[in-house]
Amino acid sequence: MNRNAGNIDLLHEALKMLAARFSVTLPMARTIASNFRNEMKSGLAGYPCRLKMLPAFLGKPDGNETGTFLALDFGGTNIRLMLVELLGGRRYRIVRTRSFPLKEPLESCDYTSAKATGETLFDYIAGHIKDFIDHERIYDLGHTFSFPSRQVGTNEACLICWTKEIRTRQVEGEDVNRLLMEALRRNGIENVRPVVILNDTVSTLLAAAYKDADCDIGSICGTGHNTCYLERCFKGQGPMIINIESGNFDQLPFTIYDDILDGRSDRPGEQRLEKMVGGHYLGEIVRLAVVDFIEKNMFPINLEEDSPLRMPYFIKGEHLSLIMADENPGLSKAAAWCRDCLRINDPHWELLISLKTVAEAVSKRAAFLAGATYIGIMDHIGYRCSNHTIAVDGSLFEKMPGFSDNIAKIIKDLIPEGDLIVKVVKAKDASGLGAAVAAAMARTSSSFQ
Ligand code: GLC
Repeated sequence: MNRNAGNIDLLHEALKMLAARFSVTLPMARTIASNFRNEMKSGLAGYPCRLKMLPAFLGKPDGNETGTFLALDFGGTNIRLMLVELLGGRRYRIVRTRSFPLKEPLESCDYTSAKATGETLFDYIAGHIKDFIDHERIYDLGHTFSFPSRQVGTNEACLICWTKEIRTRQVEGEDVNRLLMEALRRNGIENVRPVVILNDTVSTLLAAAYKDADCDIGSICGTGHNTCYLERCFKGQGPMIINIESGNFDQLPFTIYDDILDGRSDRPGEQRLEKMVGGHYLGEIVRLAVVDFIEKNMFPINLEEDSPLRMPYFIKGEHLSLIMADENPGLSKAAAWCRDCLRINDPHWELLISLKTVAEAVSKRAAFLAGATYIGIMDHIGYRCSNHTIAVDGSLFEKMPGFSDNIAKIIKDLIPEGDLIVKVVKAKDASGLGAAVAAAMARTSSSFQ
């Protein structure tokens, strides 16, 4: 295709419009926060609503929990095993850790696909546990399971439905720790006792609260997105952490690309916030927008039928981070990525700047949307009753350029003036430390502190 000034003007115009379409203004963020708060109230009152508001049967730790625990982190991409020693006095030590993928690199084996069952999946996990442990001692295991599960106590969690496009059969509706226990038994592992199961947001909150008593919100901005918080008095029983499953919130300003992505997903209409914030989806939104631009002749390239850019979910969160971090005047890193990964030999400036502009707009929107929901939660808890620490874990928060700053910015812009202190922090060692803290709490008679 020939480049001409008309097309380039059109591109600049389109990029401007696109940035505007992805922008979350302060009034929009306020409305989102307030609708989110109302939805939380409905969920807590038991009305049908988008937020599941799942009790975790855990309160807050006091930082004096002690003991050595095995932690299993099941997030959907990798499995992580950790041996964690809680030393009391808000101190801890990660003794040992090991990760392994749920999908083999060439996808010869994929435990997250519909070909796998709960039994094969948990046998695979049990096999790794066997290699990790010392067979002479007894372990209490805390299981961070990052999917919506209905709990009736600390050690029983039925998976309501998979999210993040996982499809493993015969797990939905099942008690996940029972599946784990049966697999341990089948694999001859008798010295590991699963004692608690918790969502990754809850692990994040507990890990941060073990060190910082002000922490009352835990959130994940990684492959998926979700938040939990400490409800100060749940049903008259005392403090209880509630897993909001906020990824399912849907009173949001969708673009055409969000609707296309949603329509082609495993569960259209569900997890709409997560589909705008989760790292699993951000690259795909950018890809859809860029391909649309190309098809509207705004880029001087011919896109082959088998071009990687035509492959759904080809662009990953880490690719966006690489493009966004490229400060070179010629965007040389982004250009190298286009050559090596997209097989576009001579990537034009227009393509590069478009990728960067769209990636920045999509990432900023994600951070602002997450931040707006945190405001909704703080509105619900009550601003003035205490300072708040919001602990966040996940690859976007940690690694995507500008993401954590954008969260801090929207919070600063939205909170009422006054003496309130809100800190947004990275939760260190969240899944392992949180699972260990939960295991220690579950061992004591009352976890409602
Ligand atoms: C998905 C899951 C949720 C989890 C989040 C982050 O939204 O439904 O339970 O907390 O991903 O991993």
